[in-house]
Amino acid sequence: MLRRWILFFIAVHLTCFAAPPAVEKQASALQTVLHQADDAYYNQHESVMSDAAYDALRQQYDQLLADYPELGTENPVGAPAAESARVAHDAPVLSLDKVYSDAEVVRFLEKTGTNLLYCVEPKLDGLTVVLRYRNGLLVQALTRGDGKTGTDVTPSVLASGAVPVTIATASAQFDVRGEMLLPLPAFEALNRRRIDAGEAPLKSPRNAAAGTLALTDYAETARRGLTFQCFEMLKTNPMPATQSEALVLVKAAGLPVVESKTVSAAEVISSIADLNRRRTEFPFMTDGIVIKVNDLSVRDRLGATAHHPRGAIARKYEETPVQTRLLGVDWSRGETGKLTPVARFEPVEIQGATIQHATLHNLDYIRAMDLKIGDRINVIRAGGSVPEITGVCLERRTGDETAIPDPVE
Ligand code: IVH
Repeated sequence: MLRRWILFFIAVHLTCFAAPPAVEKQASALQTVLHQADDAYYNQHESVMSDAAYDALRQQYDQLLADYPELGTENPVGAPAAESARVAHDAPVLSLDKVYSDAEVVRFLEKTGTNLLYCVEPKLDGLTVVLRYRNGLLVQALTRGDGKTGTDVTPSVLASGAVPVTIATASAQFDVRGEMLLPLPAFEALNRRRIDAGEAPLKSPRNAAAGTLALTDYAETARRGLTFQCFEMLKTNPMPATQSEALVLVKAAGLPVVESKTVSAAEVISSIADLNRRRTEFPFMTDGIVIKVNDLSVRDRLGATAHHPRGAIARKYEETPVQTRLLGVDWSRGETGKLTPVARFEPVEIQGATIQHATLHNLDYIRAMDLKIGDRINVIRAGGSVPEITGVCLERRTGDETAIPDPVE
């Protein structure tokens, strides 16, 4: 009798291996998101997410409860949201070495071995998120944190709708890394809403994406329109041999992937130039181009420093500022009456677009720059897109510049 029980116990553990802690986390994350969705729907007559997204999450939760009934008694729907916790990464989540010229890219190619194939990808300007799928189910999403431990952002990622809850894979473990992004139209809509509500606009889509993942108001998380693009396979079985195969695998599983072009060493520089030309077409911010050795075993052999792998590099954009002259400051009033200053300057052409306005955020920003009408100013398109005044050429002042008048209330 005892032997039968021991065998039964082992069999249960073999089938459920490692599942309970991961499943518990998944259930708790689902429960938090569903609770907020229910609360918004029944108490505030608001829809946090589409019916389809809600049904998919509810189905996952019900399935988990059916498989692990004990979760239902420990974590009834309606329990308060769990505190976000720090979780150890399986392997260090490294950064990228940055270079600012093609000559440095050529040196990188020479060091890695010029007979190789390389993947050239946009460098997405959001924040890294690691997704852990177990048996095809998203059980955990972590930020990069300090590279050794990250913050558990599973409820936010689930609520965002940016990644599928279930993926098509035969591998029990499927861990990937990618970038969580707030696309430019969503960023602009968010800032319009904030200005109308009398709140300060957010500085950049990257800040906005990070802030969105930190929210515990999941109705707002869902509304913001985060997206995700995968750029690295961390663990699956069997592991792909190359970056290009990895991305095909990830895409086949149902996850969105970064655009990636596999080229010879001789084609890397022209591929960089091509992506550089197209950077303003992307509906999301990029801050450079990533070049990676395609063969993952070669990448492993090249190793890594404590900060970055030696088999990949980021070619950052040069944000060469263009000089122009500040003509005036217009105050735009949101629906709630809040005024936001917008700089008007002599039109300049930057990366194919004519620019003549840039937000000045608020009065403190204007004061911090000591900006005056008539000043020569430096303007860039941050990330190839958002016009931004990066400085004032104080040495070019003539004495004819005038103070920016306060807004007329
Ligand atoms: S690969 C070990 N590919 O850039 C190397 N990173 O500055 C893994 N990033 O933390 C990174 N787009 O969040 C890679 N196509 C891309 C990327 C990318 C954006 C981010 C990533 C990383 C940061 C480093």
